[in-house]
Amino acid sequence: MDKELLISEAKKARENAYAPYSGFTVGAALLTKDGKIYRGCNIESSVFSPSLCAERVALAKAISEGEKEFEAIAIVGANANEDPTAPCFPCGVCRQVLSEHVDGSAFRVVVEEEGKAISYTLAELLPKAFVF
Ligand code: THU
Repeated sequence: MDKELLISEAKKARENAYAPYSGFTVGAALLTKDGKIYRGCNIESSVFSPSLCAERVALAKAISEGEKEFEAIAIVGANANEDPTAPCFPCGVCRQVLSEHVDGSAFRVVVEEEGKAISYTLAELLPKAFVF
């Protein structure tokens, strides 16, 4: 897996973010096991609660196209200050939603930390996920 490429795809996705309320724009790039990439961005709503996170937009696009096997997701995001040292980790809701579709001990979450693409397993970020 090319972590840098996945981060650059997430950056392209972020260009389409619709975040007029928070000003915090996020992009995600979800890599399938057979090498396809699905991009997602956050999409906010004036009534706030229907706002969509970038990761779940990417996942919904992929699942709705019949994808079932995922290898990794890259996430980039920041507020207007664009602090390059602050990585954008997925929120707890997105961690939980992803956990239902992947093997958490193998699936990688890629974020940019001080300009470098760093990856974690989903299980590291969400140990003991809820299982129905
Ligand atoms: N957001 C994401 O897109 N992904 C996350 O994992 C955390 C937060 C979005 C939601 C909202 O539009 C903005 O970032 C600020 O919370």
